[in-house]
Amino acid sequence: MTVRTVPTTPFPDQKPGTSGLRKKVPVFRQPGYVENFLQAIFDSVEGRKGATLVVGGDGRFLNREVVQTTLRIAAANGFSRILVGRGGLLSTPAASCVIRKHGAIGGVVLSASHNPGGPEGDFGIKFNTANGGPAPESVTEAIFARTQSLTAYRIVEADDLDLDRLGEVRLGDATVTVIDPVADYAALMETLIDFPRVAALFASGFRMRFDAMSAVTGPYAREILERRLGAPAGTVVNAEPLPDFGGHHPDPNPVHAHDLMALMTGPDAPDFGAASDGDGDRNMIVARNLFVTPSDSLAILAAHAHVAPGYAGGLAGVARSMPTSRAVDRVASKLGIPAYETPTGWKFFGNLLDAGRITLCGEESAGTGSNHVREKDGLWAVLLWLNVLAATGRPAAEIVREHWRRFGRDVYARHDYEEVDAAAAEGLMEALRGSLAALPGRSFGPLNVEAADDFAYTDPVDGSVTRRQGVRILFREDARVVFRLSGTGTVGATLRVYLERFEPDPARHDAPVAEVLAPVVAAAEAIAGIAARTGRHEPSVIT
Ligand code: G6P
Ligand code: ZN
Repeated sequence: MTVRTVPTTPFPDQKPGTSGLRKKVPVFRQPGYVENFLQAIFDSVEGRKGATLVVGGDGRFLNREVVQTTLRIAAANGFSRILVGRGGLLSTPAASCVIRKHGAIGGVVLSASHNPGGPEGDFGIKFNTANGGPAPESVTEAIFARTQSLTAYRIVEADDLDLDRLGEVRLGDATVTVIDPVADYAALMETLIDFPRVAALFASGFRMRFDAMSAVTGPYAREILERRLGAPAGTVVNAEPLPDFGGHHPDPNPVHAHDLMALMTGPDAPDFGAASDGDGDRNMIVARNLFVTPSDSLAILAAHAHVAPGYAGGLAGVARSMPTSRAVDRVASKLGIPAYETPTGWKFFGNLLDAGRITLCGEESAGTGSNHVREKDGLWAVLLWLNVLAATGRPAAEIVREHWRRFGRDVYARHDYEEVDAAAAEGLMEALRGSLAALPGRSFGPLNVEAADDFAYTDPVDGSVTRRQGVRILFREDARVVFRLSGTGTVGATLRVYLERFEPDPARHDAPVAEVLAPVVAAAEAIAGIAARTGRHEPSVIT
């Protein structure tokens, strides 16, 4: 086997976004596109000679081919041990777990998360560092800079490896080990969650549905829920990872997981419903007749986590991304622990977790996680919920309502305006920024602006400052609206408008969300002029 140095020229568009490099599949299929980006990643990894690298992805279209390319380029760049999930699979949280457990210097995770797959769908390449988390901005910037100056990549010339057989093979000077993608992850879950107690819950007749959305969590959920915890066969549906996710949009929310929603609101609803996304880091929790918002889920888990063995000692602190509702802050203040507010993007939790300042964290975008890995973790959140249900013996919907009675309810919704003209979206944000100073004191219907700013974050651990992370407008009536542009879209721009209003009175906790939020929606329109600037009179998705 020989190492070849192949001359190449830079692609201008290899700047990683919120979560790595994410583009349409045809973009990745351009000759040299994948090779260039991988070479730029590896050039940015100091100390790679002799180190361990982890490789795996969510099984979407192109996954197997790019895994093979990654192995060849990694082997040509000095890594001595490469761990790859069987079939080229590793969920994002499992990749994080494997990196940490095996002392790897990092990992290449192939995924476009919850975006659709297939030949016309999305693909993505993300680099995680030795702590198991997404590379921080300093690293992604270095990678991008490198993509712009590349003149060649190095690759081992060899046949494709058999990714379906566990065990070791040589590739150039490296040893590639095909590992069971589930084993390390499942073992970690057994240390955090009270498996015997959850198994007893299933044995008592408790029924759930887990919708893997034809994506990567199928094998994980089957092994853990059905085999180790004894849930009946068929508990996990859409359990085979498919390259195009069966044509579905593998994003666990009430819109895209409509079958699960229909089941949970129908006459045959089981006790509990859950789903995960393409790469397994997001989660959706549904009680009977009640969708649990990710913001509420985070708050509820924070309030109950101590029932699980992994969190029996209590929580050091919690964190949420800025647009996530403030429900978890209320729990933190009752528990007397710090609550941090970070920009959108899981990477911002990394320093807080590494420094031991927080134990749990989460985002409105269906991400929940803890210090057990450095990614959000869909199946873990489901297991922690099951542990809470087993320990309290109460139905999930009751847990939620009791939480609202205790802490008040942060009524919440997100309105997305997808594929809007990028210049119009930028213009809207710029105009908003320009109007901030004049907003405090103004009223919009029943709401009075108390404060308005463009969120900036100073990392308390390393002092780094991240600016322009979203415009937030706080009303005196304990309502809030946040505007930001998505960092993960691949077509045009997506404007996200996050709306919330605190409701302390239990008598009003069951009022329809749209009704409670109507004044906030009206204020958002009046302040930002969404219809006039984007031509959109309704959001494309409401979650
Ligand atoms: C990815 C990241 C999350 C983040 C989300 C935001 O899923 O892993 O940490 O919350 O993107 O996406 P957006 O499209 O709102 O920028
Ligand atoms: Zn994901």
